[in-house]
Amino acid sequence: MTSQQFDQDLIRAVELARGARSVEVFTGAGMSADSGLDTFRDARTGLWSKVDPQAMASIDAWARDPEPMWAWYLWRAQLALRAEPNAGHRAIADWATLPGVTEVHVTTQNIDNLHERGGVGAVAHLHGSLFDYRCTICSRPWRGRVEYPAEAVPRLSPPPCPLCGNLIRPGVVWFGEPLPQRQWQVAEEKMHSADLVVIVGTSGVVYPAASLPLLAHRRGTPILEISPTTTDLSGVATLSWRATAATALPALVNALGERVSG
Ligand code: APR
Repeated sequence: MTSQQFDQDLIRAVELARGARSVEVFTGAGMSADSGLDTFRDARTGLWSKVDPQAMASIDAWARDPEPMWAWYLWRAQLALRAEPNAGHRAIADWATLPGVTEVHVTTQNIDNLHERGGVGAVAHLHGSLFDYRCTICSRPWRGRVEYPAEAVPRLSPPPCPLCGNLIRPGVVWFGEPLPQRQWQVAEEKMHSADLVVIVGTSGVVYPAASLPLLAHRRGTPILEISPTTTDLSGVATLSWRATAATALPALVNALGERVSG
């Protein structure tokens, strides 16, 4: 993207976003890419390119051999803890402070905690979190002390549930599992009530999460997409801005702030 194209898209994005009072931001792995965390499907660096998704994110795989999965998720949690929120995360939090803006809510497919650490108060995690744990069988939440591996290791033993003795598992949603109902309901409500939807850093290929922006699209809500590449959701975007989260979001929020402060 040329800087001229960036500036032109910025002007169009400001036109789309100015006056928005209730903003719903729908994010994917690309939101955390500028913090150094791998995305899932970017051919050159995608996490899945190094790991077989079915092997590492399914309840069957966990039942077969939990130790490699436990080691992988704890390693990812360690990477997320070492990462810092980027300028895009912080810009979303700043947006909520602009005069006239009543809410900026985030619905994310990400399981890191960078939105929260970047200052966003209300985050719906559709695919769970690296920092939530529960018992595989009785589902009791577990808040025990986790030893995060300093280096990636092939196997680690999950701790036993203090209540029933079964294995503690990561509090993430695996392929084939239902999404957390309350988080889904909140996300649906926000897609219906927002007067602007911003899609950032998702390929839009994983359902049911990817169906959420369609709720807003059907209502005619303006949709701004921010992604360096075309995605499966570009077709429903009012404006698809070929830019990264860490460059586009700060530029947009700064421009909106200038507009307000006149
Ligand atoms: N800024 C914004 N977008 C970016 C950036 C960036 N710096 N870098 C990459 N992207 C874009 C990519 O072009 C791609 O469109 O982010 C998107 C990432 O897509 P995926 O890797 O498919 O990640 P995501 O859409 O979040 O995957 C959805 O799939 O594997 C499951 O549960 C997992 O939540 C994940 C879900």
